[in-house]
Amino acid sequence: GEPPVAAAVPQAGQDGLVLLRRVGVVDPLSLDDYRAQGGYQALRRAFQLGPTGVIREVTESGLVGRGGAAFPTGRKWEATARQPDHPHYLVCNADESEPGTFKDRVIMEGDPYALIEAMTVAAYATGCAKGYLYIRGEYPRARHALENAMATARARGLLGADILGQGFSFDIELRRGAGAYICGEETAIFNSIEGQRGEPRSKPPFPVEKGLFGKPTVVNNVETLVNVLPILERGAQAYRDAEPKLFCVSGNIVKPGVYELPFGATLRELLDLAGPTGTVRAVLLGGAAGAFVTDLDIPLTFEGTRQAGATLGSGVVLVLGDDVDLKAILLRIAEFFRDESCGQCVPCRVGTVRQEEALHRLSRRVDHSDLVLLREVGQTMRDASICGLGQTAWNAVESAIDRLGVFK
Ligand code: NAI
Ligand code: SF4
Repeated sequence: GEPPVAAAVPQAGQDGLVLLRRVGVVDPLSLDDYRAQGGYQALRRAFQLGPTGVIREVTESGLVGRGGAAFPTGRKWEATARQPDHPHYLVCNADESEPGTFKDRVIMEGDPYALIEAMTVAAYATGCAKGYLYIRGEYPRARHALENAMATARARGLLGADILGQGFSFDIELRRGAGAYICGEETAIFNSIEGQRGEPRSKPPFPVEKGLFGKPTVVNNVETLVNVLPILERGAQAYRDAEPKLFCVSGNIVKPGVYELPFGATLRELLDLAGPTGTVRAVLLGGAAGAFVTDLDIPLTFEGTRQAGATLGSGVVLVLGDDVDLKAILLRIAEFFRDESCGQCVPCRVGTVRQEEALHRLSRRVDHSDLVLLREVGQTMRDASICGLGQTAWNAVESAIDRLGVFK
């Protein structure tokens, strides 16, 4: 079934919002309403700038990927655009499955045309005639909104052949995931679209050189793509001055939901808006693949969270109050990774099982040898796994032991 999402977008419709400005305000099924609220201005600007001009703006904006890894978007686009091998493909990664992540869902349900427009801009810049929108299977409302948006855009000359009479043709095919977390990994998406098992491929080669069907491919997350609209509408410099970021706030909190803040706000400032239900014991940043922190004065930037030994990841801010059962949470995380490991490589296939077993034993009785084992297994998963799943499966557990004193 569809995962629960916070009932409210607390700030929807408020002044100063960039990414969420239309969410809860625009009729998500109406192209006319989208256009009346600024829609398709960015695409027009893109056609004025030309593909290289668009890539220059995106590079100058400093935009980095919002799926979690923060790779510079301009560099990715430029690397794809210059590949001589054709066709090029665009893949929008909308398989939002990191526990505690629901920002892309809010955009897709509330402002679906924005994603379709942004994909069109990305395809124009990077020379793609075909795009795939790979959406999490458990997001039926988002899928419905996007299918409607694509059909209407196509009927109105904004998708398909000769878009806006500019001689550029691009169309999008929507593909649904089938419930596997690993199918959000970019190369597993390729395999899934190609009809193979959803298993990650080794990188390099990176998708920009050899991706979907072995061709140069740009893969961008939903939030990354919609950032391109304000970059083109306002210009790279104005965008940089107040670069927006979405945060998914959940847990022991009065007003859970998706919050938009400019980069640089502290964790404490975000929590002041969302209202913890009581004393905060810890915050899990970055989801199951992330880490627990206790310092609320961390600036919410990729760099600031890295310096604090955590990660901003996909913007997960999971707040844990004083009365939470941390051991149960760690067991749940370990079970999740064991369950979602695709089994392709030994460190992760075996390591996630050993990790869960050791945590079960430790929650009954703390034995030093199990703590040593956990560390060894965790380090092996981090160093030797093929993809991010195995590489990050020990992060949260490690931070809970080292910073929260679990199993002391
Ligand atoms: P990665 O660091 O391997 O790659 C990030 C992006 O940069 C990829 O698109 C990759 O192809 C590209 N890239 C990296 N080096 C490159 C190069 N030299 N040339 C061209 N392109 C290059 O990270 P990965 O595994 O793609 O993502 C890991 C992140 O995903 C984690 O930080 C985690 O937080 C996040 N994540 C997010 C989820 C969600 O639901 N949003 C779910 C699971 C993980
Ligand atoms: Fe599969 Fe885990 Fe290896 Fe990734 S790290 S390829 S999920 S077994």
